[in-house]
Amino acid sequence: MTSLVMLLVGLLLFPLSAIAQSYQNVSLGSSLTTSDVTSFWSSPSDEFALGFQKIGNESRYLLAIWFNKITDKTIVWSANRNNLALDGSKVQLSADGRLVLTDPNGQEMWARGMANAQLAYGAMLDNGNFVLATSSSDTLWQSFNEPTDTILPGQVLNQDNSLVSSFSDTNVSSGRFEFILQTDGNLVLYTVNYPAEATNAAYWSPMSVGSGYQVIFNQSGFIFLQAKNGTLINSISSNVENSRSQSMYHRAILEYDGVFRHYVHPKSSGREPMAWSSLYNIPDNICLSIRQSTGGGACGFNSLCSIGTDQRPRCDCPLGYILDDPNDKLGSCRQNFSEQNCNHESREVESFTFHEMLDTNWPDSDYESHRDVSEDWCRQNCLNDCFCDVAIYSDDNVCWKKRYPLSNGRVGPTIGGKALIKIRKDNSTVGTPNVEIRKKKNQSTLIISGSVLLASSVFMNLFLILLALLYIFKFIGKKRKRTAPYSAVPGVNLRSFSYKELEQATNGFKEELGTGAFSTVYKAVLDDENGKVVAVKKLRNMVTEGEGEEVFEAEVNSISRTNHKNLVQLLGFCNEGQHRLLVYEHMKTGSIAHLLFKDSRLSWSKRVQVAIDTAKGLCYLHEECSTQIIHCDIKPQNVLLDENLTAKIADFGMAKLLKKHQTQTTTRIRGTKGYVAPDWFRSMPVTVKVDVYSFGVLLLELICCRKNYEQDVANENEMILLEWAYDCYKRNKLHLLVGDDEEALEDIKRFEKFLLVAIWCIQENLASRPNMKKVMLMLEGSVEVSIPPDPFSFVDSI
Ligand SMILES: *[C@@H]1O[C@H](CO)[C@@H](O)[C@H](O)[C@H]1NC(C)=O
Ligand SMILES: *[C@@H]1O[C@H](CO)[C@@H](O)[C@H](O)[C@H]1NC(C)=O
Ligand SMILES: *[C@@H]1O[C@H](CO)[C@@H](O)[C@H](O)[C@H]1NC(C)=O
Ligand SMILES: *[C@@H]1O[C@H](CO)[C@@H](O)[C@H](O)[C@H]1NC(C)=O
Ligand SMILES: *[C@@H]1O[C@H](CO)[C@@H](O)[C@H](O)[C@H]1NC(C)=O
Ligand SMILES: *[C@@H]1O[C@H](CO)[C@@H](O)[C@H](O)[C@H]1NC(C)=O
Ligand SMILES: *[C@@H]1O[C@H](CO)[C@@H](O)[C@H](O)[C@H]1NC(C)=O
Repeated sequence: MTSLVMLLVGLLLFPLSAIAQSYQNVSLGSSLTTSDVTSFWSSPSDEFALGFQKIGNESRYLLAIWFNKITDKTIVWSANRNNLALDGSKVQLSADGRLVLTDPNGQEMWARGMANAQLAYGAMLDNGNFVLATSSSDTLWQSFNEPTDTILPGQVLNQDNSLVSSFSDTNVSSGRFEFILQTDGNLVLYTVNYPAEATNAAYWSPMSVGSGYQVIFNQSGFIFLQAKNGTLINSISSNVENSRSQSMYHRAILEYDGVFRHYVHPKSSGREPMAWSSLYNIPDNICLSIRQSTGGGACGFNSLCSIGTDQRPRCDCPLGYILDDPNDKLGSCRQNFSEQNCNHESREVESFTFHEMLDTNWPDSDYESHRDVSEDWCRQNCLNDCFCDVAIYSDDNVCWKKRYPLSNGRVGPTIGGKALIKIRKDNSTVGTPNVEIRKKKNQSTLIISGSVLLASSVFMNLFLILLALLYIFKFIGKKRKRTAPYSAVPGVNLRSFSYKELEQATNGFKEELGTGAFSTVYKAVLDDENGKVVAVKKLRNMVTEGEGEEVFEAEVNSISRTNHKNLVQLLGFCNEGQHRLLVYEHMKTGSIAHLLFKDSRLSWSKRVQVAIDTAKGLCYLHEECSTQIIHCDIKPQNVLLDENLTAKIADFGMAKLLKKHQTQTTTRIRGTKGYVAPDWFRSMPVTVKVDVYSFGVLLLELICCRKNYEQDVANENEMILLEWAYDCYKRNKLHLLVGDDEEALEDIKRFEKFLLVAIWCIQENLASRPNMKKVMLMLEGSVEVSIPPDPFSFVDSI
């Protein structure tokens, strides 16, 4: 009864054609041909139409649905994107009850609906959906269930439905990106290895995943992920222009550049321009979001992705490189010169030079790195190395060597460092002169930095200066074959100190930087290294004289072989009788413990960076260095910041160094209370997962800016951060954890993600904890974070 009244009111208020879902029937036997693109099947209001659209300037046609009332007739669906129709093709609602596209010879190219299924009519609806229906109006097929790259208000993306981007802005073929609601309930964005359909790692996924049932684009212009029981899981795009929603057309599309955008367009001309404007996009910056071990990234291999002034990503080949396929602007680039000869006799060092680019990196193509070197050293080293195609000289004096093909290339103001792109002089248009001038200017730095590295003795210095002079002569005398071997400088830079030297450098162990259970750290100044400031760690009560000397040196050696920008670098050691000391680079800003729990706390964005840096450092210790190192004592006091606020892990490798000592004491727990994984207490072997646990505690402290254990709190249940944080998460009261941190509040999605990662890390069941690589990827956003189980629910079977 009420609905009838509503219907009548509706009929009175609106002209008949404007009532949504009414339709104009397309009767059986009707057809459209490519020869007359001015005829199409439109919806009652004329807002949408189905018909042929000509693609490009050749006679190729797409059977499509488009917005019919706006000038650019934006396509929202198509039938034959990978198989365009030639002139003379036809689409017909066939007498046997199917929608059929045929080529000029009458061959079927595409068809939907079932033969003899009592199809009565087809209809273009006012919401952009084309339906095939029976006489009792049961839907047999609808275009909404088979989306191409776009969804519209009223449309739902079911499990296993996906949007696949176009190949480029002019080519409608299926392209390189996919937005899919998987059958496992995860909504993800993938890059696709064109032309096969294999996907690489996901580059975006909302946080709470695993229970997604439908992606819904509702009539008010909201896009969200819903669970089967109807709960909203994640808002994907919220319509900020809600009030004017009805005066706007909406569409959401996975575009050829990999970005999912929600667009609006005014329905009638008013103050705003009659064009599509982007309301929301995912991800924020696709150049930085994609970071995966296979595939080229947002652009092809060797290409560089940057965000243009139009806020869209663009792909550019570096100088000296050209597009592999000139028609594919988003594709891979290749060197437009012949590669360097690897033969030792004729390495052609003189034929190559560098093109410099600031704030540029291909972060995943490293094969070697050297720290504490000068830029000039880095250039020479790369020139002499035929494997080196690009060297990145970072702001913290690390030389990262990279080889072909380079992936995930990006340019942007937050990237830092300088890319030195090696190119052949003869084939390139680069001005070689300015590079040469720069080299001469840098000769002195070369000598100084070289000697700092090698300064273990006067003889070494003399030798190095001799080498450098030789090199300069060669350079001035020009083009004599080959340079002197210029490698071997890194690797020998672990210096052996005498106790006396360190006593002097620390001014008699005067200025203490920190103290721990087994050691004290002092500040020291090395006069013979230009007054370089270092940190000297004096190990206490180690062993009696002579004992375990070889073990000590072996371990020191293994620590010294670690080389990562998020680890505090070991510079030297002293092993003299009972004196065992380690010399590290000095970290100006000190440990994060001071910057988290005091009044002047680190900003949210800095804390985010510290979390990611620390995860990277730990990941390296666990997975990438030659012998796996379990840290065993991850806590804020062991995460130090340099002057650029890059976080570096300190004190690693100590577990092994102290092993002998530990067996003599009653407790085998070396970690610090509050950060120690429960595994320690069970008689279980110590694995990398103990570090993951401690990292989880650290991560919680980082995001919440408070200590794990605090007595002075308002409520008793807030005393232990681990328990309180999980409780807040469970009760959906994140704001309690965020407190008054406005920057974090604005970034609440990331806050929640980090919280979830932390909860995964602190699982009592060590098998449930992810490894550090996964943790790192989750924090960076390249791997989805699923909902963690209750961390405290695990009952040990012993
Ligand atoms: C299509 O346009 C391109 C450039 O716009 C032109 O080079 C090409 O010849 C045109 N093709 C035809 C068939 O007109
Ligand atoms: C469309 O066709 C069906 C089946 O023949 C019929 O029931 C319905 O009334 C028609 N609708 C319109 C708007 O003509
Ligand atoms: C679109 O790109 C695909 C993949 O490179 C190619 O095979 C196809 O020919 C292109 N289509 C047009 C119309 O250029
Ligand atoms: C669309 O979803 C939003 C957010 O869930 C909700 O506020 C709004 O009422 C919904 N609109 C309709 C027409 O369902
Ligand atoms: C609905 O499902 C979600 C996810 O499966 C779950 O978290 C939530 O508790 C459920 N809500 C209700 C009311 O059943
Ligand atoms: C670059 O020069 C080398 C010889 O120096 C030549 O073999 C090669 O073909 C050139 N590359 C191009 C793209 O012309
Ligand atoms: C590629 O190298 C050739 C030969 O040196 C040169 O003529 C051409 O201009 C280069 N192409 C580009 C795009 O730089």
